[in-house]
Amino acid sequence: MGKIKRVAVLTSGGDAPGMNAAVRAVTRAAINNNMEVYGIMRGYEGMINGEFKKLESRDVSGIIQKGGTILKTARSARFRTPEGRKEAYENLSRHEIDAVVVIGGDGSFTGASIMSQEFNIPCVGIPGTIDNDLFGTDYTIGYDTALNTVVEAVDKIRDTASSHNRIFFVEVMGREAGFVALESGIATGAEVIMIPEVKDQLKELREFLSKRAKSNKSSIIMVAEGDDEGGAIELSQKVQPEFPQFDIRVTILGHIQRGGSPTCYDRVSASRMGVAAIEALLDDQKSIMIGLVNGQISHVPLNKTVKAHKHVRKNYLDVAHILAM
Ligand code: F6P
Repeated sequence: MGKIKRVAVLTSGGDAPGMNAAVRAVTRAAINNNMEVYGIMRGYEGMINGEFKKLESRDVSGIIQKGGTILKTARSARFRTPEGRKEAYENLSRHEIDAVVVIGGDGSFTGASIMSQEFNIPCVGIPGTIDNDLFGTDYTIGYDTALNTVVEAVDKIRDTASSHNRIFFVEVMGREAGFVALESGIATGAEVIMIPEVKDQLKELREFLSKRAKSNKSSIIMVAEGDDEGGAIELSQKVQPEFPQFDIRVTILGHIQRGGSPTCYDRVSASRMGVAAIEALLDDQKSIMIGLVNGQISHVPLNKTVKAHKHVRKNYLDVAHILAM
């Protein structure tokens, strides 16, 4: 048996389809390596409150196909304070936890990175967010499922948009990043894709609408919620007075993007990353995130993934621009 005898796993931040597959993989890989596993409920909130639950292999049966997270999740303000983290660490010590696996996004990893430094406890992150906005990994768990949910919804919107010759502004999630909007926009043939990573797109939108005024065809304007020019409602209100001839409608897809059964890709990625997290701990890693780069498992320091910025792929932007006419 290695140095690590007992590992804790938690999910934190916004939930993402595939988190359960990751919890299952972490639990079973740990048990396979003769470790004990504790699930911490409701992320760092549960760590502070002492909500720990021993997990056996059968506790994670029948969850690989389920959306959400059986461990529940939270965004913990208390864990951002030194006092909160101290209480959390005391609970880890009380349960004799040697290492923690955190499944979440950048806020969750900021907390994990600080905790691993403050208390010298190994923390391994598994990227789980539908936003796909984490540096050091091509994909985050939940992104693929969310994309497919958006594509299915927008295909339906396209049917009614084209029947009525309407312009639809469709808002998708992505507070600070346009990955969901960009990739689902390409997949649904959106005529304009508005994302926070590209500045001054209002001009582009106006030009497009002026052109479209001549043809009167239906269009999809895909908007990331964090776009600088505002969300879908604000944007539509900005342009409607200039184009009174257009019948404009707005759809905000909202939290349906976070739910549902994970796709095969998310299940497999989550399973691979869960196993890799335990292998990294056995390899004595202290503060890293597991990533997937060009299909291969990678390790990136936690403090790097939270500081560095992941850029949208330039070639995807080019494709979007060439095809959006
Ligand atoms: O971080 C994932 C995410 O779904 C973002 O895209 C979105 O802005 C945010 O979470 C919404 O968070 P909440 O469910 O807490 O309102």
